[in-house]
Amino acid sequence: MASRLKPPNSRYFFSPPLQKPTNKPPHLFPHLPKSLSIPHNDTKIPPGPTEKLIINGGSKLSGHVNISGSKNSALSILAATLCCSGTSKLTNVPYLSDTRTMASVLESLGAEVEFCGNEFVVSTDGISSVEPDSDSVGKIRGGFFVIGPLVARFGEAIVGLPGGCDIGSRPVDIYIRGLRALGAIVELRDGKVQAYAANGKGLVGGRFQLDFPSVGATETLMMAASLAKGQTVLSNVAQEPEVIDLAHFLMNCGASIRGAGSKELHINGKDRLHGSCYSIIPDRIEAGSFMLAAAITRSCISLSPIFPSYLSCLIEKLLGAGCKIVQCTRDNLELSAIPGIFGDDLQGFDIKTRPFPGFPTDLQPQTMAFLSTCNGKSIVEESVFENRMNHVKELRKLGLRIQVCGSTALISGKERGRGSPIYGSRVAATNLRGGMSLVLAGLAAEGITEISGISHIDRGYENLEKKLQILGANVKRLNPRPNLVQ
Ligand code: EPZ
Repeated sequence: MASRLKPPNSRYFFSPPLQKPTNKPPHLFPHLPKSLSIPHNDTKIPPGPTEKLIINGGSKLSGHVNISGSKNSALSILAATLCCSGTSKLTNVPYLSDTRTMASVLESLGAEVEFCGNEFVVSTDGISSVEPDSDSVGKIRGGFFVIGPLVARFGEAIVGLPGGCDIGSRPVDIYIRGLRALGAIVELRDGKVQAYAANGKGLVGGRFQLDFPSVGATETLMMAASLAKGQTVLSNVAQEPEVIDLAHFLMNCGASIRGAGSKELHINGKDRLHGSCYSIIPDRIEAGSFMLAAAITRSCISLSPIFPSYLSCLIEKLLGAGCKIVQCTRDNLELSAIPGIFGDDLQGFDIKTRPFPGFPTDLQPQTMAFLSTCNGKSIVEESVFENRMNHVKELRKLGLRIQVCGSTALISGKERGRGSPIYGSRVAATNLRGGMSLVLAGLAAEGITEISGISHIDRGYENLEKKLQILGANVKRLNPRPNLVQ
């Protein structure tokens, strides 16, 4: 029976059950001739004329959208396969340029990676290097996470500095101090981080407090500690669902981890871990983006799979704005933002992004676009990344009224029910979530919006325009590059 979600401390929120370990290593895809496997490195595909998304705004959305596996969970779990000897089979992996790039990182170390649709099979028995391809590492943040498993399993790692969205300086100092606390000598040499076990053998368990609950540093140190000698206690760690998912995968592979999802992790290192079969959790940021797409177009859609506890902050804010959210089943939500009988009355709200369970920074740009269509003024404060406002200048080209001061933005929505319309224009995506905010504004805009730089959006949204078309949006991709879309 569907139940209407109430603002928080409702008893409806629950997290997914722990997956039962399955140690049987899977078969690789014997039926697939080599030639059929899709090239991993997108750079091999020459860029065509500028790819763009063309959105004819104003359509109401309706129907159901299937949520893909989590990009950020898949990236850390793909890195974690390096902790394991043998083969791991990962399912529900989103087919994205980022996950394909991560496959290139693993392959450059000598791992064998096969993928078919949303199934990735990784065999690490052929690892022959501890220095991944810097080009690939330089494209994604997750590429740097391999430093943990490599130094823990092979006693050494040489990893170039990571890439990823231009949303801040994104240093790796916490990773370095954490690895040192586990008995590694770590130096930055020639633009690469070189780490090796001080005792020439392996890492040793220890205590380390993170200055900031960094997601990547927590995940990398958790992987390293899983193979360190003795016990490790990591405190002030990240509590994101993706961190819990990684812990579940590692435990499936034989690791001993306690406290995932809390502020402190207790890890008893093992001599070796084995490959396993594992299914990646749903992508809460993709789900949140589609909920905001329905809200900004004043539509009603349902989406699954998604666990409400992953998005409690966003749900609370949208309920407060006047949306109706119903939990139809354990992992199926329906959101309606269809105006009430008294006309359009969605209220603006203020947010401050914080580490989980705070308001996710990866939904900040999309929320900003939505708030510009609500009544009143709203304040958006970005506290996780110091430079995550660069989507604002593009949103302004679509008519949104946003003032920025440092990492705080003031969004002027509707006054007395009348607001400045959003109107279509030419804009450019410069990073993943900023790009998605332009898509949302384009869906609500009067006229045509043309978005370039969409390779940024392809990094994190699987089959985006297809999913939007199924919901009734008038959107198409111009000059699609071959082989990138399934
Ligand atoms: C992860 O990035 C996600 N990426 C990001 O998603 C997400 O925005 C972020 O966590 C926060 O939720 C992946 O998982 C691949 P952090 P990560 O380390 O791990 C500072 C997306 O759109 N910091 O938690 O890089 C850092 O500069 C992406 O999908 C240090 O100072 O984020 C930042 O200000 C974007 N020193 C803050 O911590 C360090 O050593 C949070 O970064 C590490 C981090």
